Amino acid sequence: MPSDARDIPLPQFDPTPVRPAHAVGPRSLDAVRMLRISVTDRCHLRCRYCMPAEGVSFLPASALLGAAEIERVAEVAAGLGVTHIKITGGEPTIRRDLLDLVSRLRGIEGIELSMTTNGLRLESIAGALREAGLDRLTVSIDSLRSDRYAEITGGGRLDRLHRGLDAAHEVFGGLKLNVVVMRHINDDEIGDFARLAVERDWTVRFIEFMPLGRSVIADREPKEALVEADEIERAVVAAIGPLRPLLRAEPGIGPARVNGTAAGRGRIGFIHAMSRPFCESCNRLRLDAVGVLRSCLFDGGEIDLRPLLRSGVDRRDERWRDAFAGCTALKPEVHGPRGDRAMSSIGG
Ligand code: 5AD
Ligand code: SF4
Repeated sequence: MPSDARDIPLPQFDPTPVRPAHAVGPRSLDAVRMLRISVTDRCHLRCRYCMPAEGVSFLPASALLGAAEIERVAEVAAGLGVTHIKITGGEPTIRRDLLDLVSRLRGIEGIELSMTTNGLRLESIAGALREAGLDRLTVSIDSLRSDRYAEITGGGRLDRLHRGLDAAHEVFGGLKLNVVVMRHINDDEIGDFARLAVERDWTVRFIEFMPLGRSVIADREPKEALVEADEIERAVVAAIGPLRPLLRAEPGIGPARVNGTAAGRGRIGFIHAMSRPFCESCNRLRLDAVGVLRSCLFDGGEIDLRPLLRSGVDRRDERWRDAFAGCTALKPEVHGPRGDRAMSSIGG
């Protein structure tokens, strides 16, 4: 660990509101409503906040769960109270059987289905994703300037992303954009992103940089890269005027604090995972691409579901509940300053 990583202020609970007791709080399975499913650890981009300079080695395709196995875990989760499934990666659109997977998950009763993508393939598949039953999309975009976008992502083409966003807007209507704000890298574009939210009537969510696993930025300058949400908010207000907090502003269950704008169009969200962790209200679990259930993005424990999956245990069997409840109980009270696994292997 680089020495400066230790200088990041340890995340702490905000003393308000009152924290729920463990038995009924996020450490009980009853509170879990969302499952994020990473369907591959691969990506055609190399975002500097996500991957180390020398690149990463990816899992062999044979190690990934098959679509039917993912569907099975999702069915179990739905039976245990999960109402929202988010498909993530790596980059989920890399998976050849993504559309099949979406329709399988769509078939599970009572599930809201969304996906996070880097957006570069949306121009060709947005329509098919919608038809397969995807409800919503979140697209990552960290700069509105072509040269900078290419630099941050390791070669991504912004014109292609814009075409993807337009195609997705046409079929999905409202879009959510994720912007990871980083000091001296893109913090001068906060106002531009806020104006884009108003112009297109989209939701822009500003995310504090999180040092997860190894990445160019986590390895070299994690503390310097962090721009706290309060500072981001000031830049937003300077650009588009006052914000007003929205309750349940957007469908889906997420940690973003979402606001309406003075113009009445567009929404602005803040994900302050570092400056004000929201662990106390965390209602999610994560499934990685090989079948390991993870309790926390940062440093929670994990439970390998493969033995259960491969032994063909019925989905109503108590052993499934035990595995999910056991994993939920491994959530840390509040996450530490660094995460031990890369975002690309957990899916955000
Ligand atoms: N810190 C903050 N956000 C990150 N993302 C990926 N890595 C990091 C990080 N280290 C974002 C992606 C995507 C979402 C799932 O998480 O840009 O929008
Ligand atoms: Fe790919 Fe997303 Fe990681 Fe960027 S942040 S390299 S788009 S997985």
